[in-house]
Amino acid sequence: MKIAFAASEVFPYAKTGGLADVAGSLPVEISKLGHEVKVFMPKYNIFGEVENGLHYQWDIGGIPIRINGNVHSVHVHTAKLPGSNVEIYFVDCPYYFHRFRVYTNDPDEDERFILFSKGIIEILQRIQWAPDIIHCNDWQTGLIPLLLKENYSWDRMFDKTATVFTIHNISYQGRFAKETFHKAEIDYKHLIHGGIGEYEDGVNFIKTAIFTSDIINTVSETYAKELLLPEYGCGMENYLVSRGKDFYGILNGVDYNIWNPETDSLIPHHFSINNMSGKIKNKKFLLEHLKLPFNENTPVIGIVSRMVAQKGFDIIGYIISQLMELPAQWVILGSGLKKYEELIQQISTAFPDKVYAYIGFNDELSHLIEAGADIFLMPSLFEPCGLNQIYSLRYGTVPVVRKTGGLADTVLDWNEYLAQGKEIGTGYSFVDYSGYTLLQTINRAIHDFRLKDVWKKIQHNGMSKDYSWRLSAEKYIQLYKKAVDRPPYSQKI
Ligand code: ADP
Ligand code: GLC
Repeated sequence: MKIAFAASEVFPYAKTGGLADVAGSLPVEISKLGHEVKVFMPKYNIFGEVENGLHYQWDIGGIPIRINGNVHSVHVHTAKLPGSNVEIYFVDCPYYFHRFRVYTNDPDEDERFILFSKGIIEILQRIQWAPDIIHCNDWQTGLIPLLLKENYSWDRMFDKTATVFTIHNISYQGRFAKETFHKAEIDYKHLIHGGIGEYEDGVNFIKTAIFTSDIINTVSETYAKELLLPEYGCGMENYLVSRGKDFYGILNGVDYNIWNPETDSLIPHHFSINNMSGKIKNKKFLLEHLKLPFNENTPVIGIVSRMVAQKGFDIIGYIISQLMELPAQWVILGSGLKKYEELIQQISTAFPDKVYAYIGFNDELSHLIEAGADIFLMPSLFEPCGLNQIYSLRYGTVPVVRKTGGLADTVLDWNEYLAQGKEIGTGYSFVDYSGYTLLQTINRAIHDFRLKDVWKKIQHNGMSKDYSWRLSAEKYIQLYKKAVDRPPYSQKI
């Protein structure tokens, strides 16, 4: 099959969260299964052309694309995703993408991704490459299926092209004023009450995608079930219910070429399930590097996270003083909402021997934390998949998580299974979204950390889990086949 894979961020070029990790690794795995994949992302001015091996495509250059009545000229650069033969196409339009950030709060944020979406379709036309599938990811690419079915339906090249839409996070929906469809030159009929794009008197990119993609999926089986409920669906639950069997859950895989303690080039001491001696050396290195006192018997709790409500910072805040009384040290990396950044900064100032905080994005430190911490905390309010807990499992850093979404699918609670006589747990989890249960669960972990044999067993269980992409990539192929084989989804258009 031929697959065009569209994402607003792709590792190693641009990354704000897990979408980049997925977009940088899933296409490679799909190509290993014998399919031809081309990846598309915007050409932001936050990564270098030379060091990333980008080539300007003279033969494609200068595609005129009209947005909000203004014509922009789109150029194309290409490269190969590192370590693979997968081609990545960078949609180049400095007016929209040279803003020193991936996402903005600028009033034309909608235009940026309309241009990206149209740009992908027009590049495919220029290179005369008719994909069997356009695989869209998150709201930034949510208009592609509709554009393809309507604005570009005149082009018979796309007659057999099906669309798959992956929801990585339903809380970001791409909601704008009604004028957005005008800017995109999408028919206004989709905005009259109950139209596919209309939501609360505006435009909603995710809703549009739900009603125009041939197949939809999200990134874990549990989140797929949760999304059908009002507590998790963020208003989209009934639309997803109406898509019935067209909506699936496929757990993300991880790239063990990048996240592997045996080979990780960003950590000073390599280690493996059979030789754990490097783990404690990494802990010592991490603490000394961050100027925290080192004590082998004091557990280090790591957090690497966007600092937003999704990630559980409210319940951390409720019990922050109790957390600071625990016999543990904290290494916290992240950025996001000011109130959470301030909270974390305040505790690091108040408890300099206990807490180190880095507010910002730091790829190297994220690897050091995975390698050097004993416990990884991820008490998410909701979590479509979550990658850091999976990385933690491989690094022998025992995850403490809330049992939701992908966290529920990847972390087995030690005590829950012990009660059934099974020593198969890989971490600790709790259900109630409350400070009290969070504190209890961290206490369980700290308690077991002192029982060296128990801890070793839990680490061993986690490290032997395999969440590589292979299995999930095969499931995506099945999904692509379903999308190609079924009659095009056209309800309500
Ligand atoms: P989400 O996509 O919701 O942010 P995931 O767990 O799926 O959550 O993926 C987050 C990814 O982003 C991980 O690879 C994590 O290491 C990385 N990450 C998040 N915040 C930072 C940060 N401040 N610095 C470096 N890496 C980060
Ligand atoms: C989103 C989700 C996260 C998921 C990632 C990759 O950002 O918040 O849970 O792992 O996408 O699919």
